[in-house]
Amino acid sequence: MFEETMEDKIYRQLLRTDLDQDKLQWTQRQSADFRRLMTYYKCAIREIETKFDVLDDEYSLQNDRNPISGIKTRLKSISSIAEKLKRKHQPWTVESVEANLNDVAGVRVVCSFVQDVYTLAEALLKQDDITLIEKKDYIKQPKENGYRSLHLIVEVPIFLEKEKRPMRVEIQLRTIAMDCWASLEHQLRYKKGVEFNDEMQNALLECAKHSMELDTQMDQLRSMAHI
Ligand code: GTP
Ligand code: MG
Repeated sequence: MFEETMEDKIYRQLLRTDLDQDKLQWTQRQSADFRRLMTYYKCAIREIETKFDVLDDEYSLQNDRNPISGIKTRLKSISSIAEKLKRKHQPWTVESVEANLNDVAGVRVVCSFVQDVYTLAEALLKQDDITLIEKKDYIKQPKENGYRSLHLIVEVPIFLEKEKRPMRVEIQLRTIAMDCWASLEHQLRYKKGVEFNDEMQNALLECAKHSMELDTQMDQLRSMAHI
């Protein structure tokens, strides 16, 4: 079966993007630059994913268990990039994408226990090719709606034929319980035709509290089991 490569996908999106091509006024050169940038982001995602895979393997050798339950990655779609630049009143150019957005490359690391979130984040940030740009700890200080996760914006170099290029990646570290809440909340919030009212908001906050209790109890059990 014909497998579409990431480059094909980007190019297809670029061609059929609902942005008015006239308004976009991108030359072929700019389109090529955009595709190149997206490829670099994709490489940066791979670098970060590999770093977490390595940490997971090492930890499992030492402790006989895996701190990472799963890793999800995503490259922001062209339409989301365009929307966000518009929202931030920034120009829709290739340079502007890199200058104004931190989350074109996204890596989500779902961990077993809360402690694993911090152990992994610390281990990553200690690496000498990683630069921390921003850290938001929504675990210590959850968002008002109950959202919890540790967010890192980092720069990681990718090594090209003639240059070393730092690329920004947004990393979200969270437990299985946090991921469960966030995924379901996202589905509920963005369900078309359903008004997201106060009652739902409050019910979700209740669920967030349960998920927090679950994480606390699980972490106590982890501690008791000395793992
Ligand atoms: P945006 O990236 O524009 O959203 O703002 P920001 O840079 O202040 O981002 P922040 O670090 O607060 O959140 C970035 C990402 O975290 C979002 O794109 C979501 O993936 C996730 N996130 C943040 N808040 C929520 C939330 O309330 N619910 C869910 N499900 N995900 C969230
Ligand atoms: Mg974002």
